[in-house]
Amino acid sequence: MSRQDPHSYADLEQGIIESIGLKFDIDFENRKILSVVKLHLKEAGEGAFDLDTRALKIHSCTTGGEENIPWELGEEDAIFGRRLRLELPAGTQDLEIICETTDGSTALDWLEPAQTAGGRLPYLYSQCQPHHARSIFPCQDSPRVRFGYTAELIVPEGFTAVMAAAPTGVKDGPRPGTRSFLFEMPQPIPSYLTALAVGDIDSRDLSDRVRIWAEPEVLEQAAWEFAEVDSMIGVAEGIFGPYVWDRYDMLVMPFSFPYGGMENPRLTFLTPTLLAGDRSLVNVVAHELAHSWTGNLVTNATMEDFWINEGFTVWAERRILEALEGPEYAALHAAIGRNSLNEALERFGKDSPYTRLKTPMEGVDPDEVYSEVPYEKGFLLVRLLEETVGREVWDQVVARYIERFRFQSITTEELLVFLDEQIPGILRRTAAHRWIYEEGVPENAPEFTSPRLERVRELGAAFASGRMPDQATAGGWSPEEWQLYLQALGQSISLEGCRRLDEEFRLSESGNYEILVTWLALAVRSGFEEVLPRVRQVLTKVGRGKFLRPLYQALLGREEFRPFAAEVFEEMKERYHTLARVAVEGLFRSVKSE
Ligand code: BES
Ligand code: ZN
Repeated sequence: MSRQDPHSYADLEQGIIESIGLKFDIDFENRKILSVVKLHLKEAGEGAFDLDTRALKIHSCTTGGEENIPWELGEEDAIFGRRLRLELPAGTQDLEIICETTDGSTALDWLEPAQTAGGRLPYLYSQCQPHHARSIFPCQDSPRVRFGYTAELIVPEGFTAVMAAAPTGVKDGPRPGTRSFLFEMPQPIPSYLTALAVGDIDSRDLSDRVRIWAEPEVLEQAAWEFAEVDSMIGVAEGIFGPYVWDRYDMLVMPFSFPYGGMENPRLTFLTPTLLAGDRSLVNVVAHELAHSWTGNLVTNATMEDFWINEGFTVWAERRILEALEGPEYAALHAAIGRNSLNEALERFGKDSPYTRLKTPMEGVDPDEVYSEVPYEKGFLLVRLLEETVGREVWDQVVARYIERFRFQSITTEELLVFLDEQIPGILRRTAAHRWIYEEGVPENAPEFTSPRLERVRELGAAFASGRMPDQATAGGWSPEEWQLYLQALGQSISLEGCRRLDEEFRLSESGNYEILVTWLALAVRSGFEEVLPRVRQVLTKVGRGKFLRPLYQALLGREEFRPFAAEVFEEMKERYHTLARVAVEGLFRSVKSE
């Protein structure tokens, strides 16, 4: 067999899925989805046809409900799941699989009412990127394969179902007390962009192409926070070309959602930690929106090329921010990004292959090596390309790139061929090969400075010698300046310093989770016990990995706080999303093995 993706059993020479019909019967009581999955292949096939599955029970495989197709599930693999091998009778182009999910589904998060804002109904959502769609339905779970789909979600009366697709209607369900929500995704998407959520979900229009979905309790706050997103789309279209996904809706998730945002087409999923009350975290929306071009139109071929998705998107995000808020604001974000990249480089160590842009992934679980590297090192390379040829030329190249590769999935090497053809000599001039195939960050990396940035850094450096910023200065800081200031204080500060900072600026009360978590992690590393109740509040409420990881890491770094960390984790571990739980477990393991 020839395998084209290090995380998928799919063999594209056996056949390729063209479209899928999904019927999902959602059973909250038993926490499972019973499904009818209809696969339509590009061409009629015969013989072995391999699909990815994980933690699925297969009930039957037939040719469109008629002839039985012999099938066999392979051995369980921790990364791949189980191969479902079908033996297609000659001429098979349509197949139907009846199956159900089990507790081991890594894509699905089933929440109790207590984990929702309303506390009244349970909630279900999915997170399929990078290789979890297979734990909902059998598919060729590789971004090289794109398909359109239709779906029917059968849910109990009183629930609303949404998908990252166009809603096409609601009707009575097949049983009394059920409703069917219908969807269609006409554009071909990779499996990792399928997404659904079911719960007490309401919506409000923000413009004729933007709608916000959320639990009723947070809808108003969300509508205010994201009120300006329509104009963001206009700005993005001006730079990257027409928005092709028709609508841009957003769903504010429950707190356990493990990411900041997920670019599910037509329906971005967002963490509720973005609801800061001052629109200060809309950069995450700019990022997910930017994926509508870089990622959802032009997609990485495999997770070895993940930086193509994220590096271009961070670059695009900051171009949108620059157009809306000015270059200084974008520079502050780039500086925060550079700090987080440096931390990741240090964590991995300087010879780690995960500090390359093109990362070897054979035998590696992509969730375990998820980091800022593809994002921020990728951003630096794209920015370097832009600076080298000049913005005007670069923007034209990017527009042609999106045009050339739309609805395709590409490798880093295909991107390099394209760049070399568009701008001969560019790869050599930027040392692109070193950026891509070697560890660390080359010396020709773009740097970001601005008067505001320098001022904050100076004040940060002066803290050690007893200098506090005064209210007149720090009172006017943006959230980004606060974050940079706290980062500039280093690994730890004195207990007295912690106390004075918190008293003066009420950091533990910040409604901006980026500031709050940067502060709490610093305070914990400094041994400032007074913040533990606040840390507990965050760890028992929020499931976003970006916040859980640094807080647990800081706690585990101090022996006296380890019992506290263990106790909170014990209380929470069943309620964190599998991904977040596994990440935190990894931190505990590395402390034990020290
Ligand atoms: N696509 C990612 C999230 C993701 C990556 C999920 C890999 C699963 C596997 C999303 O676009 C993202 O990057 N989110 C960031 C937002 C940020 C960079 C502004 C996040 O969640 O923090
Ligand atoms: Zn992203």
